[in-house]
Amino acid sequence: MDISGIIRQRRSIRRFTQEIPDDASVGKILEAARWAPSGRNNQPWRFLVIRDEAEKKGISQFAKQSHIITNAPLIILVCLSLKESYNRDKDLMGLGAAIENMLLEAHNSGLGTCWLGEILSRKKEVSDYLSLDDTLELMAVVAVGYPDESPKGKRKHLRDLMVRR
Ligand SMILES: Cc1cc2nc3c(=O)[nH]c(=O)nc-3n(C[C@H](O)[C@H](O)[C@H](O)COP(=O)(O)O)c2cc1C
Repeated sequence: MDISGIIRQRRSIRRFTQEIPDDASVGKILEAARWAPSGRNNQPWRFLVIRDEAEKKGISQFAKQSHIITNAPLIILVCLSLKESYNRDKDLMGLGAAIENMLLEAHNSGLGTCWLGEILSRKKEVSDYLSLDDTLELMAVVAVGYPDESPKGKRKHLRDLMVRR
């Protein structure tokens, strides 16, 4: 599939089959994130892959949509490295770019993802649960697995997004 098709056809997947993505597929997703642009090329992203069922269940208690986390065969936590951070706005845009690369690469490999932000309202509890270093700030959880649904996409019309016509 070409890049335009991957961008257009990727959807958030909230139901996954029980098939387990192999390490090579997960590696490709992380590799795509690694090549995202960042301000000053500071690469402030850090990743934690969690496949362990008990640990996933533990994290899911801090999310309203806990079922997405427990149903996904694995989740990837994306953290901001406060050691690398130089400008919070720009660092967070860099993390957004890295996460989007992950979603697109996953879709390219036939995997589904859901970018979960709601859990951030309890990010401190997640960090404490995982005993994360205090130089890491949780910014997203990405649920990953093979899709068990095919949701339709919906977008505003381009003309409604233009500040000037
Ligand atoms: C920053 C951010 C946070 C999000 N948080 C959640 C979330 O907590 N739960 C969820 O189900 N989807 C979440 N999403 C996915 C969006 O709901 C989804 O991208 C949007 O509805 C468009 O649908 P699509 O991804 O299928 O095109 C989030 C997306 C982004 C970019």
